[in-house]
Parts: sequence; structure tokens; C-alpha cells
Amino acid sequence: MLRFAVFASGNGSNLQAIIDAAQKGIIKAELALVFSDNRKAFALKRATTAGIKTLCLERKDYAAPQSYDRDIMIYLKEAKIDFVVLAGYMRLLTPFFLKEYPEKILNVHPSLLPAFKGMQAIKDTFTYGCKVAGVTAHIVDEKMDHGPIILQEGFKITEKETLESLEARIHKVEHKIYPKAIALFAEGRLKIKGRRVKILDKPASHSAGAQEASPTGDTEENSAVEPES
Ligand code: GRF
Repeated sequence: MLRFAVFASGNGSNLQAIIDAAQKGIIKAELALVFSDNRKAFALKRATTAGIKTLCLERKDYAAPQSYDRDIMIYLKEAKIDFVVLAGYMRLLTPFFLKEYPEKILNVHPSLLPAFKGMQAIKDTFTYGCKVAGVTAHIVDEKMDHGPIILQEGFKITEKETLESLEARIHKVEHKIYPKAIALFAEGRLKIKGRRVKILDKPASHSAGAQEASPTGDTEENSAVEPES
């Protein structure tokens, strides 16, 4: 079974959805470590309650981002982490980190990328007057909120929507599609080719992340935006 780490900086509601999915066997991989850059992150409490090992290193204790990421990496290697899941991790990873886990880092973003990258995606969607909002689960590459898309789900914004109600709806969709994306990754069912991620019916022969498809393995179920009526 593959081993993974979740990186979270704050509340950790996505972490909770991942913990629940792993406990139910929906994600067939071991959540071996929860890392935070913030000692006060509620995510760390959620992990401890679930009996998951935690690690917290704060950036302010390091002179440079490279040395910070290198230290995190030592712990990841020690814990034999195969892939990394970002869940509200408020820090950009250095190229060194990406090189150590190529196409093996996942992220969730609260918009239909490429719209509204950055930290204020929900507010930006709302104030722009969008009629549709949504969530993207993607592979992390060197650019922020940019890598190949695993799953996306959208829904219509109602006339009565407030920023608060939109936030709640977006988080609900995150908690639904992110564990699903992680499960697909853990089962070796993602075939990454350039920007495109195909979802295979059956796992390809093993290693985390990009694998070759079996001749009959492809489906087109991914990347669909499915507005609710
Ligand atoms: C989520 O909206 C996620 O998409 C974004 O940061 C937020 C984290 O929320 N990257 P939580 O800590 O998982 O509750």
C-alpha cells in the first residue's frame, strides 16, 4: 500500500474528509503523516485525534525556503512517503520539492481553474458575479494552481447566494471530489500526458502517479463540469 502525507496550514476540513475516506477504505493508501507550517493549525488536532503522526516546522525558524523544504523532505523520506496531498497548505513548494515528488503532489483549489487562481478564489468568484462556481483537484507543477486537472465539479450560483453560502457549498464539493481524486491516484488509475489526465477503469501496472494505460483501461469520466440544476 502506498503511503502519503497531507500538508495543511489551517482548519483542515479537507484533511478531515481525507481521514474519513481513508478510514472507510475509499482511499486505498496509508495516511502516514500530517505536516503543518503552523503550530496553531486545527488540522494538527484533527490528525492527533485520528491517531496520525504529525510534524510541524515553521518557516520563520529557517533562513531560506530551500532549507525549509529540504528539512521537510528529510522527514518525508524517513516516513517513506510515496506521494503528497496539499489540503489548504498556504505555502508554495520549491522546485527542489517538486523534483523529489514529480507528478506525485496533489492539490485542491476552490475554483474552476484556470479561473481565479490564488488565495481569494471564493471571494473573487463571488465578487466577479460569476453564474457558475466550482472546485478543481489537480496535480501540482511548478506554477501556482496550474498543473494537470484530475477532477473538476461546478454548480450554478443562485440569485440568493451570499459569500458565506458560496463558501459552504464549495467546501462541500471539495470534500466530495478531493478524496475521490486521491483514491484514483492511489489506485494507479491516473494517466498523465501533458495537461491531460485520463482516468483508467483499471489500475495500470504499479507505481504512484503517471502510468501507462491498459489497452481497454481509458474512460472519459474526468474533467467534466457538471452544473447542478
Ligand atoms: C480550501 O478551500 C482549499 O481548497 C484551499 O484552502 C482551503 C482549506 O480549507 N486550498 P481547509 O483547511 O481544508 O478547511
